Amino acid sequence: MGTPAAGSGGVYVLAAHPHWRDSRVNRRMLAAARGVPGIDVNDLYGSYPDFALDIEAEQARLTKAQLVVLLHPIQWYSMPALQKLWLDDVLTYGWAYGPGGVALQGKDLWLAATTGSPEASYHPQNYHRYFFDAFLPPYEQTAALCGMRFLPPLIFHGARSAPEADVAAHVETFAQRLGSYPDWPEIEEIDACIACPVPETDRPADPDDISKVVSSAFHAAMTRGLAAATASKAA
Ligand SMILES: Cc1cc2nc3c(=O)[nH]c(=O)nc-3n(C[C@H](O)[C@H](O)[C@H](O)COP(=O)(O)O)c2cc1C
Repeated sequence: MGTPAAGSGGVYVLAAHPHWRDSRVNRRMLAAARGVPGIDVNDLYGSYPDFALDIEAEQARLTKAQLVVLLHPIQWYSMPALQKLWLDDVLTYGWAYGPGGVALQGKDLWLAATTGSPEASYHPQNYHRYFFDAFLPPYEQTAALCGMRFLPPLIFHGARSAPEADVAAHVETFAQRLGSYPDWPEIEEIDACIACPVPETDRPADPDDISKVVSSAFHAAMTRGLAAATASKAA
């Protein structure tokens, strides 16, 4: 069960790129983040090449943070596989959401993502058929379910083709934002996160949980019985 994150104030950057060597933009953003003093930066594919996430360690890092940053290239209108696995494994029921799941409440989530395609391609009359915003609700609602505020994302379009000066300016903006959080000009105007409580009736305990409860009750009863038997023998 989670505990509220009172007193935390750090920045935790989760950088996920399956092929850093091929990266033009995210690689520079990762390097820039590493250059910002006092923030926690995790290269997910570097830390977990076998995809075996250390859930306790990740939750401890989240507890210390006030701002959680997801940095990655957009892949198939979404996040790279290891970033998704991180959400699946780390944001657990009863810790991040659901009854007692308050560990992330009141924190901020910020998406810093790049696309290969230029912004104009994200249009009803172009080949991606939707404005880019149409792909954001899964991020936004993940934040909301955990009681987190979803800050306006920083999206860099056309990462493969953008002029070098634009890439450099973008990397600079990213680092400046990380270094100045929470003193961002617009932050006061961003609404607090909305509450999305999940009632217990929507997710009854699964059979595994029930069998754990039964086996622990059985173990406790056996221990009590054994203690009583030992005491009466001794008497
Ligand atoms: C498997 C895969 C899926 C991708 N899907 C998308 C996509 O849905 N939309 C898009 O604009 N670019 C897509 N791209 C392109 C990447 O977003 C682009 O290469 C990346 O943002 C460039 O950043 P980098 O220079 O840091 O690698 C995809 C790339 C790969 C490898």
